[in-house]
Amino acid sequence: MALTMALAATAQAEDVEVLHWWTAGGEAAALNVLKDDLQAQGIGWLDMPVAGGGGEAAMTALRARVTAGDAPTAVQMLGFDILDWANQPDVLADLSAVATAENWDAVIPAAIQKFSKPNGTWIAAPVNVHSTNWVWANKAVLDELGIAEPTTWDEFIAALQTAKDAGKVALAHGGQPWQEATIFDSAVLATGGAEFYQKSMIDLDPEALGSEQMVQAFDKMAQMRSFVDDNFSGRDWNLASAMVINGEAAFQIMGDWAKGEFINAGKVPGTDFLCFRVPGTEGNVTFNSDQFVMFKQAEDAAATAQNAMATAIESPAFQIAFNKVKGSVPARTDVPSDEFDDCAKKGMEQLAAAAEAGTLLGSMGHGHANPAAVKNAMYDVITAHFNGEYDSATAAEELVAAVEAAQ
Ligand code: BGC
Repeated sequence: MALTMALAATAQAEDVEVLHWWTAGGEAAALNVLKDDLQAQGIGWLDMPVAGGGGEAAMTALRARVTAGDAPTAVQMLGFDILDWANQPDVLADLSAVATAENWDAVIPAAIQKFSKPNGTWIAAPVNVHSTNWVWANKAVLDELGIAEPTTWDEFIAALQTAKDAGKVALAHGGQPWQEATIFDSAVLATGGAEFYQKSMIDLDPEALGSEQMVQAFDKMAQMRSFVDDNFSGRDWNLASAMVINGEAAFQIMGDWAKGEFINAGKVPGTDFLCFRVPGTEGNVTFNSDQFVMFKQAEDAAATAQNAMATAIESPAFQIAFNKVKGSVPARTDVPSDEFDDCAKKGMEQLAAAAEAGTLLGSMGHGHANPAAVKNAMYDVITAHFNGEYDSATAAEELVAAVEAAQ
């Protein structure tokens, strides 16, 4: 019995062992689309889930596996983490042959290729594009309270206040650093637009990081803090989504993986829930893209399975089937939007428009603005401020110091 179990848990070369953090209901449903697709091709799946939104815990688990000489076959990864691994000699598999044969160069947008094809070599297969500056709202709650969809930051604050006064949880939130950082993407954008976001979050300009505008961004975070419930600390993001789904809360600011939870619960956009950009951030999109990075394996057969997985991921049919469930939009620009729901259609249009206008920006909260060391330093300051350790002016000063120390 013990032997059978041990054998069952060992990946064969022609199988894939996949490390990921898709453990919430909507995420698991999306993952099943990939699992089933591969299984239909005779590729087995050994699951290595590491819970924790944003993937920090997954990245820690990955480092331990690679250090032990036992890298998984394929790993879900975000932006700058991919670049970090790309700089390690001889660790990653090269997907260039598949990418060239399938012409990924022509269909994957440049903003994503920056991470999938560093130094001219394809090392990751992008699954999707998510974006973080979204609000998810319970439509029945809004209707009952006479709240119209807010279009400015001040209207949003007024709507949150109405919900709070009516005894609802105004803002469903989970107190975890990455969730606060997710809101921070929007606080920075709503304060100073794309230019300020670029200067502070991406260029890491100390002046922008310590500016009066940054103080105002922290003030927006403090406003949000006043609308969360007493039990927010440590709550998982999908439980916060559930509070909006079941009408306990009015709003959640979260990336569009939250839509996966609404869809998984049988909810319909426009009827049961609303999706709109965080008021004050319209026209800008803070994006992140989940990619699968393949790690070199001892057996040659593993490369066959890895290439098959990469091919499956980039197939247009898979991009549609998967992203409809996940809440994201396709990583390919040539996939038609007609089969997608209204939130995704809106997301696809806004993504294309932002790319055109130069307002498509990498999400700091989700590893697409700056390297992990800087991101984690920012997380610490943002969370400390959210929990009342710093006032906004001190937080901006601390941000400058933390970013400097992390570089
Ligand atoms: C990932 C999403 C995931 C979310 C919450 C993000 O960083 O890109 O795919 O659903 O974290 O776990």
